[in-house]
Amino acid sequence: MRVIVGADHAGFRLKEKIKEHLKRKGFEVVDEGTDSEKSCDYPDFAVKVAEKVAKSPKSIGIVVCGTGIGTAMAANKVKGIRAALATNEYMARMAREHNNANVLSLGARVSKEKEALEMVDSFLGTDFSLEERHRRRVKKIDAIHGKTLK
Ligand code: RB5
Repeated sequence: MRVIVGADHAGFRLKEKIKEHLKRKGFEVVDEGTDSEKSCDYPDFAVKVAEKVAKSPKSIGIVVCGTGIGTAMAANKVKGIRAALATNEYMARMAREHNNANVLSLGARVSKEKEALEMVDSFLGTDFSLEERHRRRVKKIDAIHGKTLK
């Protein structure tokens, strides 16, 4: 499985740890930056990851910023992306099992490295549930894209 990773300056160090962890486990990792702790804007990197994931539906994205909030918000603007912010292993697992999330968003100032790697492992190790109700709900999420507010 190909994993596309990206982060802003706040998430850079954790993104590097995630990359090492995934490479050790044999995943193909594509790094969309940033490449230092120099201040930058999280939407730029979240969108690069999201666009790559949207174009290659079998891939998974992992984005990291300080809280994980901004990268999730930005990634979710890209059609076909279901980005989930997780702060614990249960959320990361449920994001795949119930929501079929294709991007995991983590907060480097919120989660410790060990917790983050556990979330990464759970996210990548969990499949979307076969239960009809979960599939129906995710279809409804995907159908929202493009609708205008009345
Ligand atoms: C950067 O200071 C911080 O705002 C950013 O990493 C992120 O937490 C935004 O959601």
